[in-house]
Amino acid sequence: FVPPVATGVGGAQLCGDLDGTPIKYASWVKSHKSNDRELVQGLKGEPYYIISTEEGIKDFALLSVCTHLGCVVPWDKAKNKFCCPCHGSQYDENGKVVRGPAPLSLALAHTTTLNGNLALFPWTEKDFRTETDPWWN
Ligand code: FES
Repeated sequence: FVPPVATGVGGAQLCGDLDGTPIKYASWVKSHKSNDRELVQGLKGEPYYIISTEEGIKDFALLSVCTHLGCVVPWDKAKNKFCCPCHGSQYDENGKVVRGPAPLSLALAHTTTLNGNLALFPWTEKDFRTETDPWWN
């Protein structure tokens, strides 16, 4: 997946690095390997995981906030899961909850680019992992 060039589609917002600096899509792809998951500042400044693929990045990003009590959930590459350190909830590689106490999957956002920079825009349609309406809207 290579994000299309978009200009402000559906409330798109630039992603930022830890300092809030916009991130060039081309350099992000160059510096990440397939299956990497790394945090950026995304919608509303919240921490989202960008998921790298062979060709670029996936067309969705995951809010890293645990749906139990809000801890930031680290990616465990060895287990191929997100494992919450607070109370043991687990999410699969696409952020679908596979072990509680978390009641819901990680929130989604769409990835795109704005003038060559990584950007996100809100996910308003059905959650493709559960075929349910998005709980985060
Ligand atoms: Fe993640 Fe409780 S906050 S399991």
